Amino acid sequence: MNYEKLFSKTAGHMRPSEIRRLLRWATQKDIISFGGGIPDPKNIPKEDLAEITKRVILEYGEEALIYGPTRGNNILLEEVIKFMGKNGIKVKGVEELVILTGSQQGLDLWARVLLNPGDIVFVEAPTYLAALNAFAPYQPNIIGIPLDDNGMKTDILEEKIKENIRRKRKIKFIYTIPTCQNPSGYSMSLDRRKHLMEIASKYDLLILEDDPYSYFLYEKVETTPLKAMDNEDRVVFMSTFSKMIAPGLRVGWMAGNEKIIEKIILAKEVADLCTSPLSQYIAAEALKTGLLEKHLPRIREIYREKRDVMMSSLETYMPNGSKWVKPVGGMFIFAWAPEGVDTELIAQKAIEKYKVAYVPGRSFYPDKSVRNAMRLNFTYPSKEQIVEGVRRLSQVIKEEMR
Ligand SMILES: Cc1ncc(COP(=O)(O)O)c(C=O)c1O
Repeated sequence: MNYEKLFSKTAGHMRPSEIRRLLRWATQKDIISFGGGIPDPKNIPKEDLAEITKRVILEYGEEALIYGPTRGNNILLEEVIKFMGKNGIKVKGVEELVILTGSQQGLDLWARVLLNPGDIVFVEAPTYLAALNAFAPYQPNIIGIPLDDNGMKTDILEEKIKENIRRKRKIKFIYTIPTCQNPSGYSMSLDRRKHLMEIASKYDLLILEDDPYSYFLYEKVETTPLKAMDNEDRVVFMSTFSKMIAPGLRVGWMAGNEKIIEKIILAKEVADLCTSPLSQYIAAEALKTGLLEKHLPRIREIYREKRDVMMSSLETYMPNGSKWVKPVGGMFIFAWAPEGVDTELIAQKAIEKYKVAYVPGRSFYPDKSVRNAMRLNFTYPSKEQIVEGVRRLSQVIKEEMR
């Protein structure tokens, strides 16, 4: 049967994720993977989670093992409100919140309820590639705004906004990862955050703030969430337990104006009815019992050391003409091979011959214009693997330069 002719136009715009493709390799024993944004598997708090899971099933099994409300479990909703409060984010109540099956679901539902073909969306360039993939099926016009070490260049953003208003185009939202940006590793300065909020107010724009990494800071930088600076209800905030505890829980959340959250909940109802109640109870207990508070500082130190090992390995092995960003936090180093090296072309060889995997940088740019960049994850591999993996990576690049 010719299935192709049956697929919808929306399906025709779906793109496979480079990261998902590479994750297939990540678990193979002989491959050193710098691919996904995965926590250190040795340091997932397994014992604590096992104890919590057993208790949750015994104490709350009758609720945790059946369907739950689409918005989310009340205990978790209240815990998340307290947790965000520590970061300066205030919400009116649970009506401004929804628990998600990972924040990735938030990106998908957000796109479904907001985007029409041709709508303008502003993102950082580079940005999280699975956000680009979540938006793509709805055929928006995605415009990348360059970054520097102070985050998104908001003066350029304003120029582009003006230009698109002049051309009478419909601007839908600005998607940003202001703190420990994925993949660049930069954080937005306070001035830029203020400027972004001013711009949003001046041109009456909506912002989607994605914040999975601000819990892993290695340098003293600005972290005030945009949502905490938002007096006009134009920021919708998203975060996740994936990086803080374990991505296998698949629990994230979104907070924002009630009207938007209501629509997201409508879309979620048909997408999955509810996020796994068992996972939600586990996440709630991790917050309530202080597991998270105990776990985060420990894991932060482990990741800082790993970041530093990767920085010094890059220094030691990478050929002249390469460069990279020292990330202020998060899980990635964004690096550039010397001009002329196409990191997408050599990715397969890197895996097959040198047994090292990374995500080529091209997919993080909406216009796919940059060919020599790559994103390297330092939290999943061991320190020994980081040194060896960077050595192998430099060999692939040097071979390509010959
Ligand atoms: C910026 C960003 N947003 C969202 C996600 C999705 O995370 P999850 O669905 O596991 O919560 C990720 C995962 O890597 C990410 O880096």
